[in-house]
Amino acid sequence: MQVVTTLDELRRARAALPATLGFVPTMGYLHAGHLALVDCARRENPAVAVSIFVNPTQFGPNEDLARYPRDLDRDLRLLREAGVDLVWTPTPEVMYPPGYQTWVEVSDLTRPLEGARRPGHFRGVTTVVTKLFAGVQPRRAYFGQKDAQQARVIQQMTRDLNLPIEIVVCPTVREPDGLAMSSRNTYLTPEQRRAATVLYRALQAAQAEYDAGRRDAAHLRATMQAVLDAEPLARPQYVSCADPDTLQELDGPVDKALLSMAVFVGETRLIDNLLLGYPGGVYPRYVPPGLD
Ligand code: PAF
Repeated sequence: MQVVTTLDELRRARAALPATLGFVPTMGYLHAGHLALVDCARRENPAVAVSIFVNPTQFGPNEDLARYPRDLDRDLRLLREAGVDLVWTPTPEVMYPPGYQTWVEVSDLTRPLEGARRPGHFRGVTTVVTKLFAGVQPRRAYFGQKDAQQARVIQQMTRDLNLPIEIVVCPTVREPDGLAMSSRNTYLTPEQRRAATVLYRALQAAQAEYDAGRRDAAHLRATMQAVLDAEPLARPQYVSCADPDTLQELDGPVDKALLSMAVFVGETRLIDNLLLGYPGGVYPRYVPPGLD
């Protein structure tokens, strides 16, 4: 496994790998969710690259950039064991050198949900992912359904910019009690960790209503809200039942729906979602024209 930092090192290492390269962008502090993306990439491509970069431009001024967990040695050991070929660990100076002034923005899809509560977040994500794609030049890239809006936004961006990259969305990996894996789970105290299962319980309660044929969007939102309200340590920021394509809130009976939420448990902001009406509960892969 080769580990590179500069663009010069990256380009030499990339040139030595097959054209069909799978790519998993990460911010490090890897967990089973990241390793599932690597596994998926391994199965579909002869070689796999991973990036580790805590991207400062996707954090708001009051967010957790400074304390975001990091453990590069452990990450590299896990990636070596997973059979990864190339790891790119750019520094902030490599990605945003002095004088940097170019940004990539997806408009409508980034306004609701996470975008409404984290101004500038998706501008940082789409900019850095474009730069990571330009450096790594993958044939396929892998993202988790856990960040549903991010996955939808990246698929839209890839389509709009005519990038020749397939965008594959892989299922959310959960702890045995249902909590979605996230590097931010390490912030939780044992008591908060127990309370954090409320997100998945709320989503499951809404899914049970949907499965039983009670599919009114307002009813599904109210079902999630009631479960969250019963957990004293949880402070919901939003609860949504949205159109999976446009991410706009739905009214009336729903067929396909993205149920999602952001909830503070203590100071830690957790997100989770369920995609209803889609095989496997994930967004279908985006395959650019001519690459199928
Ligand atoms: O999902 C993440 O870890 C990040 O948003 C990503 C895609 C690596 C961009 O920094």
